[in-house]
Order: sequence, then structure tokens, then C-alpha cells
Amino acid sequence: MQQTIEQIRAEALQRLQDAADREAVQALSVHFLGRKGVLTQFLRQISTLPPKDRPAAGQAANRLKAELEEAVAQRLAALEARQRADADRIDVTLPGRPAPVGHLHPLTQVKVEICEIFERMGFDIAEGPEVETDYYNFEALNIPKDHPARDMQDTFYVSDNIVLRTQTSPTQPRVMEKQPPPVRIIAPGKVYRCDSDLTHTPMFHQVEGLLVDTQVSFGDLKGVLTEFVHQIFGPRTPLRFRPSFFPFTEPSAEVDIGCTICGGAGCRVCSHTGWLEILGSGMVHPAVFEKVGYDTDRYSGFAFGMGIERIAMLKYGIDDLRRFFENDLRFLRQF
Ligand code: DAH
Repeated sequence: MQQTIEQIRAEALQRLQDAADREAVQALSVHFLGRKGVLTQFLRQISTLPPKDRPAAGQAANRLKAELEEAVAQRLAALEARQRADADRIDVTLPGRPAPVGHLHPLTQVKVEICEIFERMGFDIAEGPEVETDYYNFEALNIPKDHPARDMQDTFYVSDNIVLRTQTSPTQPRVMEKQPPPVRIIAPGKVYRCDSDLTHTPMFHQVEGLLVDTQVSFGDLKGVLTEFVHQIFGPRTPLRFRPSFFPFTEPSAEVDIGCTICGGAGCRVCSHTGWLEILGSGMVHPAVFEKVGYDTDRYSGFAFGMGIERIAMLKYGIDDLRRFFENDLRFLRQF
């Protein structure tokens, strides 16, 4: 009899140890401890033993019952603990999750590209304030008091003498005041005009350029701007210099490029002229030099200014200016 209790014990403990999951443990619990289980049947057989052996056999069976109940509970706890550990385990073989990375806004990309082209030609980057004095925005650039650009409708006035700059050109006198020639700078930045429709936003971006030295000619202006156009729009892009007027340059010229949409044949975008205006330029007006104290007999120079939005639209064939400011990721992701 003692033998059999030992056998039951050994078998039950071994099988519990081997049980792989909760269900298996519960099945074993039923098998050994259930109402029709091995141990219950054993207890029933005790009555068939000689009376003197019965108490010992009964005690042994009850001890085993308690021991097995404890073993079942322990095995369940162990399985549960392992399951929790499995769930927490870090699988180092899983592929990594890439962190989402943004990129530069298309206008910033074009600004950087413009700046890099001029930097390769030896220009330095200069910057000026966006909240500007009337003096630098207009007066120092030879823009007289009655000039239409001073109209309240075009300019955001902060006070009588303070404006949001309407152009990056005030960087010119600001730089020249601080240093003698030679000057070779470009100045990118935000400008503001009281304008808002399909083709105008109240804030937009320009890049200004200024080169001053002895013996600077209109030929230098043409050479530098031709090189710029060929680098930004491609080496075969046709361009032309068209006479124009700006108060701070004389002579003045606007630069047109062959229409990037129709290739010069004429279309809606170029108003059927085959040409698109991309920037203003000219030889620095002597009045501008005089205001900063440069010797107009000795020095000459050229200046230019362009809108970054416009360059970007022509470069990428974008027909709606507002796309740049709506921050629609489907648009921005294409650059
Ligand atoms: N400031 C002018 C504008 O906003 C652009 C411009 C034209 C700048 C001629 C220049 C220049 O430096 O020489 O329309």
C-alpha cells in the first residue's frame, strides 16, 4: 500500500512538472484529485485493508492530497509567471521602427539652393531686420516720398517711421554703411506687403544681391545673373535682359527666362509671350552710394532682387502660390 502512494506521488509530481500550460495542469488536478480521481479511488480502497493498516494508509493519502494540491497551485503560479515574462520580453530580432523624419520646406530648399549658387561665386550672406525703418526701406534707396510703393495699401506701417520691410533691398544700405567696398553679399529673407489674392500673399520671401567694387560694369551683372539662371533652371535656359525702372538702380533691367511651361511657344502662364519675369536688377544708383558715403567716381556696382516663391513655382511648375503656405503634407512630401 505504501508503495502505491509513493508511485502515485512520483507520477503526479513528474506529470505536473511536465505540464506545459494551465489546461494541462487542470486536467492533471482532475485526474489525481478529482471526485473520480486516482487519489479518491485509493482512499476508497482503504476499507479493504486489514484494520491495523487503515489509519496509516489514510494519513498517507491525506498528506499526499494536501501535497498535490500545493503542487498544482505552484505549477499554475509558475506557468503564469513565465507567461508574463514572455509577454514582457524584448525581441531583439524584430526589425527597428524607423523614427519619422521631416525635411526642409520647398521654399527653404530653393532659398538654400539660390544662396549656394551665389556663395560659390564668392558672395557672403547678409541679413537685415524684418521690422524696418522708413529710412532704410525707402529713403536710402532713393524712393521719393510720393512713390506709389509708399502707399498705405502696399506697405504695413507699424508707426509713422517704422514699416514691415516691403523688400530685402534695405539690406543694401545697411551693409554698405558698415563696410567700405568691395561688397559682395546676398540677403535672403521675409518681406511683407498689404496684398492678398491668388498670386500674392502678405508675407513672401526675397533674395537680394549686391556687388560693389572698382570697375564693375553692366557686363558683370549680365554674367553673374546668366550664370545664376543657368545653374538654377538648367544650362540651356534662354534668358533676356529687359529695360525696366527701379528708383535705386540706373540703368535697370528685369530678367526674363524662356517659359518653363511651354518652352517659349506661348501659353497661359507666360501670357503667350514665351517669357517669364524672374528678377529685377540694375547698376546701383549714385544717389544710393552717396547716402552711404561711397565715392561714386571710384566705385560702381550692381544689385538684384528676386522672389523665392516665384523661382520655386517656375522651377517646379506650381501654379498656385497658396500651396506653399497651406502645409498640406501631400504637397510638401513631393519635394
Ligand atoms: N526690390 C525690388 C522689388 O521688390 C526688386 C529689385 C529690383 C531689387 C532691382 C534690386 C534691384 O536690388 O536692383 O520689386
